[in-house]
Amino acid sequence: MNPFEYRDNQLYAEQVSCAEIANAYGTPSYVYSKAAIEDRYRAFEDALQDWQARICYSVKANSSLAVLSLLARLGAGFDIVSGGELERVLRAGGDARKVVFSGVAKRADEIRRALLAGIYCFNIESLPELDRIEHIAGEMDIPANVSLRVNPDVDADTHPYISTGQKENKFGLGIDQARELYQRIADSRSLRVTGVDCHIGSQLLDLAPFRSSFEKVFELVDWLEDRGIPLRHVDLGGGLGIPYTRADLAPAPVQYARAIEPFMHGRQLELVVEPGRSIVGHAGLLLCRVEYLKSTDEGNFALVDAGMNDFMRPSLYSAWHEISAVHRESGEQVLYDVAGPVCESADVLGRQRSLCIRPGSLLAVHDAGAYGFTMASNYNSRMRPAEVLVDGDLARLIRKRESIDQLFADEIIPD
Ligand code: LLP
Repeated sequence: MNPFEYRDNQLYAEQVSCAEIANAYGTPSYVYSKAAIEDRYRAFEDALQDWQARICYSVKANSSLAVLSLLARLGAGFDIVSGGELERVLRAGGDARKVVFSGVAKRADEIRRALLAGIYCFNIESLPELDRIEHIAGEMDIPANVSLRVNPDVDADTHPYISTGQKENKFGLGIDQARELYQRIADSRSLRVTGVDCHIGSQLLDLAPFRSSFEKVFELVDWLEDRGIPLRHVDLGGGLGIPYTRADLAPAPVQYARAIEPFMHGRQLELVVEPGRSIVGHAGLLLCRVEYLKSTDEGNFALVDAGMNDFMRPSLYSAWHEISAVHRESGEQVLYDVAGPVCESADVLGRQRSLCIRPGSLLAVHDAGAYGFTMASNYNSRMRPAEVLVDGDLARLIRKRESIDQLFADEIIPD
């Protein structure tokens, strides 16, 4: 489904005009479609229905309480990487027993809290982390369910910053080391083997790297079973990409499931997946307003009120996001670099975009539902944007725009 469509040359989010949302809540604002999030979650559910599957939505993609609460009500589990994300999940009504805890540098206090909350399992990424979890679980007398995240050493063919499954990356354990550690976990009184885990990267548009990693993971599963260490689940991580440009061909959840099928066939294992972007990415956009149009000898800039602090993907990964005028006008189209107010030349949301706009026009930066607000910062002492969730003809504010008071509420000027 496309939750954002033009009617009479006005962009709508479901049944609400984006111009109305901007007028009501100001700019920059993130706007999400509830129906689009539900639709994508259900697409995963349907695609994986042949197995006992647990969809652990990856909280880092979009961790707003309203979004988490929506997914919790749909029955989602959650993939978290910090104590903060755990608290968000719990506050949003998520079930701790459906939480997997990933991440390479879990702190002792985060481990304690997760054990007390009763999470489903820890995805362990190193020997010292295993030692720490075993020690804490022993001290607390709460056995820890653990799954080892293996690094299958495959090239995910994505941006190097978000590729995680190669030997040189900090993530996961080599398969040989994992073999040794499973034996040790099986013999531990404080640890319980629950599964095996892998995640090779994000924004994968091709299923081939997934297949290569599944091969290695399931080989390990067989090896463990042969040695009398049966697993309860296999966790295949997240990473399914979405089309950001018309040229991107992203596999649908059903195609992803077909790639898993040959490996899961005939097994009793539960399946865990950790999709983030593919659930929320397409369901959100960032609304901003043109402040000035500036022409130089080299070209034209549309200077807008959203910057790299609000939406970091274009600056950090040179990511391409479609940018369109909220009100489509029929006048002359001009090529603009759409740039924000932050004092860095990297603060460009999109280069060479053909637009018919004037100062005051509203723009929509599309496919910004994932890794948008969650990566926003206060750089340049800018307040982070508001967030709005649209449900049919209702647009609800789910996060107020940050205020000046919030900006320095926790700062201290020493006497
Ligand atoms: N599981 C683990 C262990 C992860 O590290 C990630 C993402 C996911 C699941 C979810 O991946 P997804 O389905 O969303 O691709 N900020 C970057 C993306 C970083 C992804 C980090 N890990 C971006 O804006 O492209």
